[in-house]
Amino acid sequence: MSTSQSLTNSQLDYYRARATEYDTTFVPYMDPALPPVLDRLRAGNLTGDVLELASGTGYWTRHLSQLADRVTSLDGSAEMIAEASRHRLPNVSFRQQDLFAWTPDRSWDAVFFAHWLAHVPDDRFEAFWASVRRAVRPGGVVEFVDVTDHERRLEQRDDSEPDVAVRRTLEDGRSFRIVKVFRSPAELTERLTALGWSCRIDEVHPGFLYATCRPATA
Ligand SMILES: C[S@@+](CC[C@H](N)C(=O)[O-])C[C@H]1O[C@@H](n2cnc3c(N)ncnc32)[C@H](O)[C@@H]1O
Repeated sequence: MSTSQSLTNSQLDYYRARATEYDTTFVPYMDPALPPVLDRLRAGNLTGDVLELASGTGYWTRHLSQLADRVTSLDGSAEMIAEASRHRLPNVSFRQQDLFAWTPDRSWDAVFFAHWLAHVPDDRFEAFWASVRRAVRPGGVVEFVDVTDHERRLEQRDDSEPDVAVRRTLEDGRSFRIVKVFRSPAELTERLTALGWSCRIDEVHPGFLYATCRPATA
């Protein structure tokens, strides 16, 4: 098994185990930065049929559900999907899907993901974006939220792979290695432009970026 594969497996194990305690830490972390993020999220692109990737406990799904006609939310963790399902959002369907083994079987008007791209290692970056490209209908849009380098201070570096991995510990003391790659708006813009995307990426709050991308040829 490659290093990247063992790390992404450990990462999924971590989120499966963290599902029931995720909101306890994530909500107080995210809520203070939420207003400028919601301004972009509500700017009018996330309408019609929307696909959400790595939907987690449904923190963003609740907002997407209000903007879109229908939301399809994918996550690799059944435990996360169980948490998100508790919101009982009528126009949302959840599906368990490993995003590193994902070939979209249809396209959507818009694709959204939050706090996912930093968990995609560099050697999976291009393949992930190729799948996203297949999931966006002509004229459609991709929007995502992520962290910037500002948030590195919150993480415990993994000394064996300090540029790729961090260590996270659960309430019960279990510790996991996960992927965490901090990419600046400028780096993301450069890399996504090279892959054929046209993006506007801004740090909308210290530590948080919002990206709006379209296929450059659309
Ligand atoms: C940082 S959480 C983000 C959740 C949500 N988007 C949010 O912002 O709160 C990362 C999510 O990715 C999911 N995940 C981890 N590995 C995955 C994989 N290989 N395929 C699909 N989802 C995965 C986890 O289950 C978790 O819900």
